[in-house]
Order: sequence, then C-alpha cells, then structure tokens
Amino acid sequence: MAVPLFDTATPLEPLREPLRRRTTAVLDSGRFILGPEVEAFEAELAAYLGVRHAVGVANGTDAITIALRAMGVGPGDEVVVPSFTFYASAEAVAPTGARPVFCDVDGETFCVTADTVRAALTPRTKAVITVDLFGNVAPGADIEALGVPVLEDAAQAAGSSLGGRRAASLGHAGTLSFFPSKNLGCFGDGGAITTDDDRLAEMARTLRFHGSRDKVTYEHVGYNSRLDEVQAALLRVLLPHLDTWCEGRRAAARHYAQAGLGDYVGLPRPVEGADPAWHLYVIRHPLAQRLEPALNRVGIGARGYYRTPVHRQPAMRRLGTSASLPVTDELAATHLAIPMSPVLSRAQAVEVVSAIRSAPE
Ligand SMILES: Cc1ncc(COP(=O)(O)O)c(C=O)c1O
Repeated sequence: MAVPLFDTATPLEPLREPLRRRTTAVLDSGRFILGPEVEAFEAELAAYLGVRHAVGVANGTDAITIALRAMGVGPGDEVVVPSFTFYASAEAVAPTGARPVFCDVDGETFCVTADTVRAALTPRTKAVITVDLFGNVAPGADIEALGVPVLEDAAQAAGSSLGGRRAASLGHAGTLSFFPSKNLGCFGDGGAITTDDDRLAEMARTLRFHGSRDKVTYEHVGYNSRLDEVQAALLRVLLPHLDTWCEGRRAAARHYAQAGLGDYVGLPRPVEGADPAWHLYVIRHPLAQRLEPALNRVGIGARGYYRTPVHRQPAMRRLGTSASLPVTDELAATHLAIPMSPVLSRAQAVEVVSAIRSAPE
C-alpha cells in the first residue's frame, strides 16, 4: 500500500459544496480586497486563538516582516531566530533592516529553548522569533522571561497548544501561514498576524496597506499585503473544522507509537506542556538520507525538509550571519518527514512502520 507524505484532498472532500457556494458569493459581491469576509475571518480567528486581534495579510512571510516592524524592529537591530526552520522565518527579518542572528534548537523537540536563545542574545537583540516547528510549540514564556519580546512563528502549528493556550497566542505577537498544505490552509497564499497589543495590531493594519490608515496620508513605507476576500471566505468555512483535523493528526501520531515506530527511529518529543497537532511528522535516524529514497521506492512518502539549514544558505551567508549550531547541523542530516495527515489511518501507520523496519541499512 502506497502512503503519501500528506493528504490535503480527503479532509476537504465533504466541504467542496460549501466552498463552491462561498466562492460564488464573493464573486457575486464584487468586493475582493479588505471587505466583510476578511473582517469576519479576522474576528473568528482571534476568538479561536483567544487573542484580541488577528490581522490578515498576503502570506506567512509578510506576516513576520510586518509583525517585526510593528514591534519596532528596524535597521541596526538583531533578531534571534532558529536556523532549523523554513527559510522564510529568517528571510523575513531582512526587509526590516535588522540582522537575523541564528540560534540552535533542542535535538528532540526541534524548537528553541531559553538556553539556545540566551547564547545568541546581545545588547542589540530587539526580538526573538520562536518557531513552532512541525506543529510542536516553542516555550514562548521561557523565552520572554529572558526579557526580550517574542514573535511566535506559528506557520506550521495552527491548532497546536501549550499549557492550554493556542499556538500563535504565546508571544507578544504571532504569525500564521495559510499556505495550502498547512494545518489550516487556504487555496492560494494567505497569512495573519495575531496579538493582544492594540497598538501593534493598528500598526500591522497600517503597514499592510502601504503604511496608510485612510488611503490619503501615507505615514510609513509599508507593504501591499492583504489576505483577499475569496481566501478569507473559504478560511471561514475551514476554521470550524480545524480542531477535528488536529485530532486526526494527534491520532496519527498515536498510531505510529502503537505500531512500534519508536523501536526503529527517534520520535519527535512534544515540548513540555505542549499538545502538538503535528503538521509534519519528523523522525530522526542516523541514516535518514538513505532511508528517504528507500521509503520512496516502496511508495512511502518521505522527505528531508531542511537538509541545508538556513544559516548555511548562500543568501544568509552574504548577510554575514555565520554561527556554530551543532544540534541544527546534526538534525539537518538526520531528520526525515514521514506521512502525516488528519486522515492517516492505523493501517497506513502500520504500513509505514513496516517499510521502515524492512528498509535496507
Ligand atoms: C515555519 C514557517 N515560517 C514561515 C513560513 C512562510 O509562510 P508563507 O509560505 O505563507 O509565506 C512557512 C511556510 O511556508 C513556514 O513553514
């Protein structure tokens, strides 16, 4: 039995009709940018997350840049960010004029810790980006206890929680991506900034529209970065299903554990107090780079996502951001994503584990 790396289509199948209806309704309305759907989705998302504000933007990368600017980050500042993450977590720092400074992560949770962040702090540090990698949830409170504001990059962790609080609500501000394969994915690009801080939210709203509040006076050099009405309308159909899908992801992780996966590979460890809705299920194996093609050959989706960590990417090296990050380097070589989705069945998990068990060394 082939098992795909992820399955975004099956969970959406029962929603095709309402999604079509909402698309047609927006087309008929003639309002496409910053209208009632975006406003309603922002309110519903904020209520779901338990924060005062959600600000829809064009994607999760812009969300980070705009949130950092709204936090006052600018030229001459440093922003601490893990290197073991998707490139955008660090790339999004550069347009603010600040410099990304890379920190290491925990080898079993894949997330930053107070210790790894502390090692990268300098008097110039203006903010820390904590990444909720693969759906795990970084310990935001531990990082804020260091005395620096936290921006929580929760692009991969919609529906996860830590200590009863939702991912994207744990820092001074949070960001989400609605890229189609995410836990809450739309049908194109989309993102959001989340916060309890009224001034930060107001600034983010201004920056997403060219730095203007009224389309008459332009107070800042901003961005053209809006979530559009069609995506917002469709996200309103999906959001009420997010928790059910996340339960499916948690069940899939249990299927793997029950099928004995931990006997063959290192399992991802939830951060203490976290209840991850795994976006990607990422195992560790010393021969991950041989296991990957071996699994693919027998029809089991498997992929190393971050083989070259961000601090070793050419564009980052040109920014002069070298760092010594032994855990990141080790994980880059040994991590491997195996199938995960809200509908991964027990039988599929057994199939994946059996393929891993019989893979040639
Ligand atoms: C951890 C992380 N941060 C940021 C982003 C950027 O989001 P987007 O692709 O919506 O710009 C992504 C995903 O793509 C991500 O996985």
